[in-house]
Amino acid sequence: MAQKMTVPAVRARKTICRSTDGASGDDHPLVMLTAYDAPGARMVDQAGADLILVGDSVAMVVLGYDDTLQVTVDDIAHHTAAVARTRPNALVVADMPWMSYHVSVEETVRNAATLIRAGAQAVKLEGGRRRLPMIEALIAAEIPVMGHLGLTPQSMHAMGGFKVQGRDVQAALDLVDAAKALAHTGCFSIVLEGVPDRVAARVSETVDVPTIGIGAGPDCDGQVLVFHDVLGIEHQILPKFVRRYADLHTAGVEALERFAADVRSGAFPNADESYAMDDEKADALGLYGAA
Ligand code: KIV
Repeated sequence: MAQKMTVPAVRARKTICRSTDGASGDDHPLVMLTAYDAPGARMVDQAGADLILVGDSVAMVVLGYDDTLQVTVDDIAHHTAAVARTRPNALVVADMPWMSYHVSVEETVRNAATLIRAGAQAVKLEGGRRRLPMIEALIAAEIPVMGHLGLTPQSMHAMGGFKVQGRDVQAALDLVDAAKALAHTGCFSIVLEGVPDRVAARVSETVDVPTIGIGAGPDCDGQVLVFHDVLGIEHQILPKFVRRYADLHTAGVEALERFAADVRSGAFPNADESYAMDDEKADALGLYGAA
């Protein structure tokens, strides 16, 4: 049976993923996938992922919002609890929603505690140096923190949209600097989203904690994608960095159409899909025609 993944085990994968010269190893990159409910978590865990992220992407892929700014701590706690009830071997990381770690250190710790009590083993939050006091307080409260740099969707208005970050020299240097600060403060890993592959490679060889990329090229210490994107459950947007491994939307609509056709034609349900009553009781009730 696979072993339960822990924060120190994820942290230790940096040394397994990287050879001594800092080059990326090719045997053990970390695998993280999002999941938001029990069936999804079971699928991700059975597929052998190392980490399950209960991402604030739940806003778009499950709850029908246009962006991640709409979800609350209660929303993420609700979905985290569903994932955690499956007792996955993968490490469960809960996303801290926008405004749950921006107002004060006290509120940050309380909100993160809600997510840990819901079943998460770590939290993820977006942003660089400005977040350091919050990260420090969380770690002091024994709450492991995953950082998230680059294209941070909760900053969509400040960034002027979903734009690749770290494209010019100063921005790239700032990104490396922010990653160093997060790692130094105690983040056990860092998501790098929407940054040029060479910049992600530089960050990954610079920091001593695993980087997990999404739209950040192959030289990170792991990769993450959204469950619904990998499985093709939604056909709405397909970002450049997504590889779709199935088309469950099409397969699902086809199956549902077959169900609808069977209901309309009377082919569903059949006798095997119905509960029978024996003839004697049916006669006593004056019921005819069944079984
Ligand atoms: O919410 C999410 O799904 C994420 C990943 C894209 C890293 O933050």
